[in-house]
Amino acid sequence: MLPAIQTAIPGPLSQQLANRLREVECRNTTYLSADWPIFWEKAEGSNVWDADGNRFLDLTSAFGVAGLGHGFAQKALRDQSEMLLHAMGDVHPARLKVELCEKLSAATFERWTGKNGKVLLGNSGFEAVEAALKTATLATGKAEIITFENAYHGLGYGALLGAGIPWFRQPFDPQLAGITHRLPYPRKGNEGSIAHFQAALAAVDPSNIAAILVEPIQGRGGIVVPHDAFLEELRTWCDEHQVMLIFDEIYTGFHRTGCLFACERFGIVPDLICLGKALSGGFPISACVGKSEVMDAWPETHGEALHTSTFLGNPMGCAMSIASLDAHLSSQTAGLVAESTRNLDAALARLSSHPMVHEIRGAGLMKGIEFRYPDGRLAGDFVIQMVVQLLKDGLILLPDAPEGHVLALTPPFALSPEEIDFTVSRILAALPAAH
Ligand SMILES: Cc1ncc(COP(=O)(O)O)c(C=O)c1O
Repeated sequence: MLPAIQTAIPGPLSQQLANRLREVECRNTTYLSADWPIFWEKAEGSNVWDADGNRFLDLTSAFGVAGLGHGFAQKALRDQSEMLLHAMGDVHPARLKVELCEKLSAATFERWTGKNGKVLLGNSGFEAVEAALKTATLATGKAEIITFENAYHGLGYGALLGAGIPWFRQPFDPQLAGITHRLPYPRKGNEGSIAHFQAALAAVDPSNIAAILVEPIQGRGGIVVPHDAFLEELRTWCDEHQVMLIFDEIYTGFHRTGCLFACERFGIVPDLICLGKALSGGFPISACVGKSEVMDAWPETHGEALHTSTFLGNPMGCAMSIASLDAHLSSQTAGLVAESTRNLDAALARLSSHPMVHEIRGAGLMKGIEFRYPDGRLAGDFVIQMVVQLLKDGLILLPDAPEGHVLALTPPFALSPEEIDFTVSRILAALPAAH
């Protein structure tokens, strides 16, 4: 369904809610201005309704969570909520935790290697990253890590070690151990950038490196597809130096880039993979899945787990994740993503000749449009204004990249050709007339 806007955006109820929130929420959390935000009331498929009753098209899948559509696993959640809301994750777990771990193993290492993987569940994405970093330290006995410029792995203290966007890290830097080697992330088609990365990697002393933590395609960093040789070079280097290769697929996982996992596009198997966001399609649950021999670096528990949390393996999160995984493992989902990708690519091509469109990039339904001014400056302020304008047109979109100059599109998979056409037409209309 195309957007249906009845009132000015944000409408009067959203404005009232913003005023109330300003009084009671940490001021660093929700961005509040006269133009932003709308407050969501309900969502279904690709559509979102706000508190004022306006209908929007969500081109973000709400941070990449609702690829299968808003409300996809609602029935699984409803059925589960009538039985069991909460169990004792690492003591007397919910039955469904077993099923979810089996399915995660089947979807990852069993498909890639024929051997089972082992799972450490968490609640949010950054916890999966921290579980993977702890695993790498236990498996190698080493302490340092390699991460990448512009990387985003979440904002917990452990995950911040990998943050490549400096302002997330800066206020807390004095509290972070100096164990990170931050390397440039080489871009697809850019031979200079792979040479630059190779030189930086060659300068690292591998003897105390436990892990390389990397997004197979950078998300928050600006939807950046790496150079074709990059992930294979990381795999080779890790094998040579007994270093764990951790793929953070919290954003790219679950068909976002066309394949079930982005690493499959490149044919590279990591030692550990971090999953979250679309795993459940809307319940806070995440997973670190590793090769079983790597995960077995954790000592067997004798009743006091070294790494756990109160809500680990929450049965509602498990039920939603199982329903979502079943959909991802069916052949229909890949076909749907392929079809929507073809439609989106064809529509986005209409933008490519505009002088402010520097590059349209990405994979599958994870696309970024990079905007620059004619003099080459990154057009972050322009993209932010455009996102506000597009919200008034009924489109929910977000800027990406540290400078905000990349318009990201990570829509639900079932976006119709009509919705895609509407989206691209509104983006075109928001651009200055080309001379
Ligand atoms: C690649 C990647 N890793 C980790 C995270 C952090 O996940 P969460 O916000 O659930 O902690 C994100 C969130 O955007 C992400 O994109």
